[in-house]
Amino acid sequence: MKHLIPEFERLKARLPPGHDATLLVPCLRRIQEDRGYIENSDIDGLVEYLGVPRIQIEEVLSFYGMLRRAPIGRWHLQVCRNVSCSMRGAERLLGQLTDKLGIGPGETTPDGRFTLSTVECLGSCGTAPVVMVNEAYHENLSVADIDALIERLD
Ligand code: FES
Repeated sequence: MKHLIPEFERLKARLPPGHDATLLVPCLRRIQEDRGYIENSDIDGLVEYLGVPRIQIEEVLSFYGMLRRAPIGRWHLQVCRNVSCSMRGAERLLGQLTDKLGIGPGETTPDGRFTLSTVECLGSCGTAPVVMVNEAYHENLSVADIDALIERLD
């Protein structure tokens, strides 16, 4: 993460003195954006750089599901299973993805292309069912739509 310090310094310059700890989540997000996940050495680096206790960083990492401690596939498929999506066919979509990719939730295909996850509400209940692929929402999906979507992802 050392190569990201100049970026972090620019963020720090916008804060009042003594508020470095508020950079924790932005720093973690930037590290993840850079490598794809957060390593123990990143935590060590942030303890030193921000002066935040290690336990606080571990708590943040365990609270936010979007922060990852391990590598994932090139395409991260997150299937919402909350009420609206479940009522509109999320289980069928999940079943189709499981069958098609040969993996279950929390797993990555052997070729490293796809990671499948289930999540609680993605905040788009009015367009259920919803699957998030990396940073993009795919809404009102049918089983045929999810098949076509997977075919488009290389
Ligand atoms: S229940 Fe799926 S987006 Fe809200």
